[in-house]
Amino acid sequence: MIKLENEIKITIREDNQNPFLRDHFTSVGKEYTATTDSLKVIGEIPKDLHGIYVRNGHNQVHEPLGVYHSFDGDGMLHAVHFENGKAEYRNRFVRTTGFLAEQGAGKSLWPGMLEPHLGSRRGWGSIGAMKDNAGTDVICHAGKLIATMSQCSELNQLDPRTLDPAEPDHWNLKIAQDGGICSHYKVDNDTGELMFFNFSERPPYMHYGVLDSNSNLKHYVPIELPGIRWPHDLGVTKNYSILHDLPFIFDPELLAKGERKVTFFDDMPARFGIIPRHGTNEDVKWFEATPCFILHLSNCYEKGDEVIMEGCITTNPRKPAVGKQDHDAIQKMVNQFDKSATRYRMHRWAFNMKTGKTREEYLDDEVTEFPTVNNEYVGKPYRYSYNALFGDKPWWLKGLKKFDLLSNTTQRYEFGEGRCGSEAHVALREGAVDEDDGYVITLVTDMIEDQSECVILDAKDISRGPIARIILPHRIPIGAHACWVEGDRIDGERV
Ligand SMILES: [Fe+2]
Repeated sequence: MIKLENEIKITIREDNQNPFLRDHFTSVGKEYTATTDSLKVIGEIPKDLHGIYVRNGHNQVHEPLGVYHSFDGDGMLHAVHFENGKAEYRNRFVRTTGFLAEQGAGKSLWPGMLEPHLGSRRGWGSIGAMKDNAGTDVICHAGKLIATMSQCSELNQLDPRTLDPAEPDHWNLKIAQDGGICSHYKVDNDTGELMFFNFSERPPYMHYGVLDSNSNLKHYVPIELPGIRWPHDLGVTKNYSILHDLPFIFDPELLAKGERKVTFFDDMPARFGIIPRHGTNEDVKWFEATPCFILHLSNCYEKGDEVIMEGCITTNPRKPAVGKQDHDAIQKMVNQFDKSATRYRMHRWAFNMKTGKTREEYLDDEVTEFPTVNNEYVGKPYRYSYNALFGDKPWWLKGLKKFDLLSNTTQRYEFGEGRCGSEAHVALREGAVDEDDGYVITLVTDMIEDQSECVILDAKDISRGPIARIILPHRIPIGAHACWVEGDRIDGERV
């Protein structure tokens, strides 16, 4: 069965030359449900693979108001549900309040993150001006998907089986005044808890919270930062969470004049606040480290007196200024995504809870990002991280690199010419014992064949190439973050 469920008209003008709306970013408007009884499958889908791979991404519908940034587009989820050697694909827009209002109007009503002054109505995000597109992150918790954007979202929840909108949990109202929920919340599969944060332009500038396994707001506290910040990720261990205060911020002098220019202050230390999982602002122990910016962590864990944090660091971050854009706005965005210049790569921070000292070391010299780990090891000592490798076009994920952090060895697999991947996730086989006893799943868009695929690799040896490739009903744009929902967590947490 390949069923076209709905079609949303894309109204982006043909003469819009913004490269983040064309080629491998080209939006799709069709929403499908399709099964592998009808879709072409190359290879064999493993029978011991049970669960749902879900990928989010920005899929702009309307001609944008002002200069479009690639984080502005309407969120669209693509899900592949595996069971008994078969799979079912579906894709749906995240029907946020802003999306529905723009569907009613037939045009863009809110500007994006670069030109908030063009807005004439109250919006969302830390600045409170853009549309909540919910196109950045997705994770499943308590039987519902949560889709968010990096600038903080309302609680956009969906059914993981159907991708239909779900009733938001009541705690949405408690956090809305603080900006909502930022992308990069973490689930502890042992307790079923979800840890999250948000940030805004009003003191105390950050909040931190914990949901219980039934999505009740168990803990929610203000975190005092020295000023407006733009953090992106949060680390968790079994007993702590790690909050980021990084020196890539709006220049305070310009901000006082109403200009928002994100500037990297290489004379300001990076600060990491380690808070007991259910602690308060007064319990935070702050550590200083080399000035840097971090988009994504691979994982964190405790080891003796130390809290270990691993992820991809840059000491040369870039971002266009927010405000009236110059003629070179597009080039600045291209520079932002030029991984050969920003050189994000794997790094380890070790925070000594007794001495207050930080140790740091690079783990690799090759540029990688979008690191992911096995869900069962989030917050615990782990061995493997699966990171994206980059090509020379913006946001072109040319392959995967598997780090074995115990043996200090790596594996790699490149998707091939004209083929661009998505954030990959590990799906354990049923009955798995080892951390990598299963599969690595991603979505690949092939610009030469003009198609997209769900690609399944052997997690123990990604260099072997695909075990199976499922050809999707349409070519889809490259995406942002993804998640794996284990078969026994689709309807709720295990505890
Ligand atoms: Fe992110």
